[in-house]
Amino acid sequence: MLLLGICLLDLLLIFAPFCYMILKRMVHIKCRGGTYPFSDVKRFVFSDDQVSWSATMENYIPPEYNSRVLHNKPWADPPIENTNFKPKWNDLDGNINRRSHLGNYNISTGRPLNPEGRTGIKGCGVLGKWGPNHAADPIVTRWKIVDNMKQINHSTKLRDCGQWALPGGMVDPGEQVSETLKREFLEEALNGLEVSKEQSTKDAEMIKEFFQVGTEIYKGYVDDPRNTDNAWMETVAVNFHDEDGKSVGKFYLKAGDDAQNVRWTDIDKNLDLYASHSNFIQLVAEKLHAHW
Ligand SMILES: *[C@@H]1O[C@H](CO)[C@@H](O)[C@H](O)[C@H]1NC(C)=O
Ligand SMILES: *[C@@H]1O[C@H](CO)[C@@H](O)[C@H](O)[C@H]1NC(C)=O
Repeated sequence: MLLLGICLLDLLLIFAPFCYMILKRMVHIKCRGGTYPFSDVKRFVFSDDQVSWSATMENYIPPEYNSRVLHNKPWADPPIENTNFKPKWNDLDGNINRRSHLGNYNISTGRPLNPEGRTGIKGCGVLGKWGPNHAADPIVTRWKIVDNMKQINHSTKLRDCGQWALPGGMVDPGEQVSETLKREFLEEALNGLEVSKEQSTKDAEMIKEFFQVGTEIYKGYVDDPRNTDNAWMETVAVNFHDEDGKSVGKFYLKAGDDAQNVRWTDIDKNLDLYASHSNFIQLVAEKLHAHW
């Protein structure tokens, strides 16, 4: 049932161990100053007008950081000086997308250069790939369910920063939804107690179809604290909307159930998400003519 004029959207959020932010600004901020995440390496500090590589900065001597956590991880690039490592920059490199949404990036002394400019740290930091690291931010929405004429009581209060976020994740070339998100729904579809095997199979197929068609909301650079001079995050934010609530919207994902990794939450302007995620969601709410 749609209560026209005051329709509330439900938004899917996921339990996220890492707090990040998506911003499209002239100058990146989150990846400058202070200490690099998960390390005690201090970033080289400089002013806004020195961010651009075209601004000359003779005394720019950033520290190098390459996390040991990445050693021997199958999804991580090897050290850049490894002679067997022959990446195809600005290209599809096997099943790794080394293209940037921002166009061609430059290579300097064998390393890709962050297209948004200096960050005060060299190396790939804790990111798995040199150059662009591609994520997707699926914004999954349904209309707020009116169940037996009684609105389901969704708690809108989010936990502290770093806990609930858009269910994004790293993606392979051409994907708009992380495997993790699809798995969350698949588990939901397969684990339902009263659900027959036949229904589970149908639901799995339905989930696959649902995530095939979305509306792009944003595509580009992410101002992320993990970015370095040689490795950075990029994302595509896509809205997947379940208009009649018969697709993924039918999964209950109880609010307040701590065992859930994903859950629905009401959307409005008071939703306490990181600034840029709120911008994405406002765009979605406007597109669907929803209450904001
Ligand atoms: C690459 O380098 C050229 C020459 O220095 C510069 O004009 C251009 O803006 C750079 N491109 C990027 C994406 O940084
Ligand atoms: C909804 O939540 C409010 C505030 O927590 C509570 O007072 C109210 O009883 C709840 N209503 C239902 C139907 O659960």
